Amino acid sequence: MDVILEGKRKIKGEITPPPDKSISHRSVMIGAISEGTTEVERFLCADDCLSTVECFRKMGIEIDFLGHDRITIKGKGLRGLKKPEGMLYAGNSGTTMRLLSGILAGQDFEAVISGDESLLKRPMGRVVEPLRMMGAAIEGREGGRYAPLTIRGGRLKGIYYELPVASAQVKSALLLAGLYAEGETVIVERQKTRDHTEIMLRELGGKIFSQDGRLKLIPVERLCARKIVVPGDISSAAFFMVAAAIDENSELLIRDVGINPTRTGVIEVLREMGCTVEIQNEKTTNGEKMGDVVIKGNGLKGVVIDGKVIPRLIDEIPAIAVAAAFAQGETVIKGAGELRVKESDRIKAIAWNLKRLGAQVTELEDGLIIRGESKMKPCEMDSFGDHRIAMAMAVAAISIPGRSRIKNAECVNISFPDFFDALQKISEPYV
Ligand code: S3P
Repeated sequence: MDVILEGKRKIKGEITPPPDKSISHRSVMIGAISEGTTEVERFLCADDCLSTVECFRKMGIEIDFLGHDRITIKGKGLRGLKKPEGMLYAGNSGTTMRLLSGILAGQDFEAVISGDESLLKRPMGRVVEPLRMMGAAIEGREGGRYAPLTIRGGRLKGIYYELPVASAQVKSALLLAGLYAEGETVIVERQKTRDHTEIMLRELGGKIFSQDGRLKLIPVERLCARKIVVPGDISSAAFFMVAAAIDENSELLIRDVGINPTRTGVIEVLREMGCTVEIQNEKTTNGEKMGDVVIKGNGLKGVVIDGKVIPRLIDEIPAIAVAAAFAQGETVIKGAGELRVKESDRIKAIAWNLKRLGAQVTELEDGLIIRGESKMKPCEMDSFGDHRIAMAMAVAAISIPGRSRIKNAECVNISFPDFFDALQKISEPYV
């Protein structure tokens, strides 16, 4: 599906972003292995999280939808999953495949997990290697570097593991496997990544201690279900934040956004670029911080983005790159090589699209140099099948006078099915 967008638009009003994708996945996975029924309020009903739901249904877990964004998961405890008939299918979702691998490593049955064309190209060695060290038998293409993965759970033992890549998915897979292991699992992360797994496990009775980048998980007898309320996804909100940051007359209120500090790099960067971002009505639910975000555009300037902030905004780089294309001066993004192995090669996809719009972009092996350009022109862009590229380029399109086209835009269904309606709602043409 192609989408045609007309710019230039004024950004104003208020909006609530869809529920957080990372937390929605975890609510199903951890709910399934808890004892009792987990009720999830504001579950993200989008393709990625539905892949997780289907995988757990195949393993005998009853999951019911009560309306559009409320679900219940009838947990069967740590040892209650059953061997699936046929293959588990993770679709486009790296989180489903990697976190589920950790859970499967602890089961006493064999299961195969596959995914779509994009997921089959993404690196799985990063979870396979440490899970093998814990005692799981895992086979996959190229010696286990790529899916489909066949996982035969075993008697696991806890390991000490320093994460070679900053990855919340790898960390989470090992924590979930650690629930089934004999002894403690210790994970060291040099750059702090999102900690939703740790927070949710603790909420449900897990024992995880964290100090100076070192996490220690001690296995428990059981996890106990409780109600989970999912905050809005800051990664989806980021597209509106950037749209408002580019428009110098904007004023936008984004409600109920998850502002877990491991995810708020985008707010810090937009402030550094010159945008006014305020957070109001802060509260904490199920250990996760949330609040309302108010954005006013004042013109943007280029910045350097590098180092420890990268994992705290990794999914927001497509949106931030669009902001950079509209900023004065140069923005340098470094240390973000992980972008090459996301749902698409995002460095290539961003550079390709921004160049078509008329921005000056240099691709680096691990990032981008973007020189802001005031005279960008409407054009035809391509999502490369990647939801975040489609949404970032839609924001660019509405910020330029004229008509642009986004090819293959249906992929927004992965994380934000109502994206184009939402964008319409907070924007009106300048006349
Ligand atoms: C996620 C972790 C990140 C992120 C992804 C979701 C998660 O991936 O990019 O969109 O839910 O744990 P990595 O762990 O590969 O960095």
